[in-house]
Amino acid sequence: MNPIATPPPSCSWLIRIAEVFEDAVPDLIRQLDSPACTKLGHEYYVVRPADPAALRRMPVAIFIRWCLPLHHSWPCRPRSMDGFVEKAAQALARKFAAAKPQTLLVGLLDPSSTDSYYKKLASNLRGRALQLFPATAVPAREVEAQDPDAPTLYCLLGNEGLFCGLHSPKSANGFYPGGTRFISQNSTATISRAGAKVAEALHYLRLHRLPPPPTAHWLELGASPGGMTSELLARGYRVTAVDRAPLHPSLAAAPGLRYVGGDAASFRPPQGTQYDAILSDMNGAAQDSMEAVLRLSKHLLPGGLVIFTLKTAGVSSVDDTQRLFAAVTTQAARGGLRLLTQTHLTYNRHEFTLFFVAPVADHSKPRSDTSSSSQPK
Ligand SMILES: C[S@@+](CC[C@H](N)C(=O)[O-])C[C@H]1O[C@@H](n2cnc3c(N)ncnc32)[C@H](O)[C@@H]1O
Repeated sequence: MNPIATPPPSCSWLIRIAEVFEDAVPDLIRQLDSPACTKLGHEYYVVRPADPAALRRMPVAIFIRWCLPLHHSWPCRPRSMDGFVEKAAQALARKFAAAKPQTLLVGLLDPSSTDSYYKKLASNLRGRALQLFPATAVPAREVEAQDPDAPTLYCLLGNEGLFCGLHSPKSANGFYPGGTRFISQNSTATISRAGAKVAEALHYLRLHRLPPPPTAHWLELGASPGGMTSELLARGYRVTAVDRAPLHPSLAAAPGLRYVGGDAASFRPPQGTQYDAILSDMNGAAQDSMEAVLRLSKHLLPGGLVIFTLKTAGVSSVDDTQRLFAAVTTQAARGGLRLLTQTHLTYNRHEFTLFFVAPVADHSKPRSDTSSSSQPK
């Protein structure tokens, strides 16, 4: 067995926890039963969890944006070292070329830094290392072209040195080193920046399944003022948008859009309507939002998708956040929705993005009308 593919239990891991959850780190380290924790750069921590599987398991996983087994650590000061790029690239080739990673991606330990030094160094290191890994296939700009289940060589670089490991994008919880990246919205409308949140969610989803097809009809709950709506429309989707508050006037005549003013709890889809996906970004109590989603999920096509923003207003401790997550996902499971995955997106602050799937078809029963090729009703 390749020792790199299966990290030993004592292996150190690089994990990323968003700055907004910095206060939660000591509790999470306790839950991981890690004897040590070293902070690196911005939002990164080196830990040694008693059971590495715990990183991708609840209750800890909700806070771990991204994780990587450290197969190669080189604590050093790259800035004050001669020939850093060549030495680092040669070491990577020696250690990892035989494992044939699908690609090699270099990220920054402090991506928030405005200093371009490490950005340039990362690009030089990737360029030189790729000359030594001739079989590596995926271009850096096409991160979504990676096989989510095949190992990628991820490297993180910064003032503290170079930290690398081989892990699949799905196991690491993101295509990029460090997770998802802020994905700019397609639409030029400046209605709200929430459009970037759904763009990032659809990018992240590709780790697990393809996004709904361009003909899809979305039911959006909590749509006002319409940042996400405009992003979905810009991708060619049809949208039924429900909110107590109005949408931005620029969306008034948007093709493919139907707006329903009022409470999601009392929205009744026209008879026979089936949606490909539900997007819920309602604020208020998370269990109330899930109740509305579950009632309307009966109008989802078999295997349909639910993207649900888990709002945590009024919840601050690690335990309470984990309890809220457990309560909402249990409620969803009882209502027939399977949790596919969850993450904390770059755009999320004190909230998480959860992905559920509706039950797949029972082919023994005839299917009623689907709305995929019709206009929103
Ligand atoms: C965070 S904002 C949504 C932002 C929106 N997704 C965007 O992209 O611009 C939350 C919205 O949820 C709506 N909301 C909360 N509870 C609701 C309910 N029960 N029924 C309908 N709308 C609701 C609020 O009116 C508010 O506009």
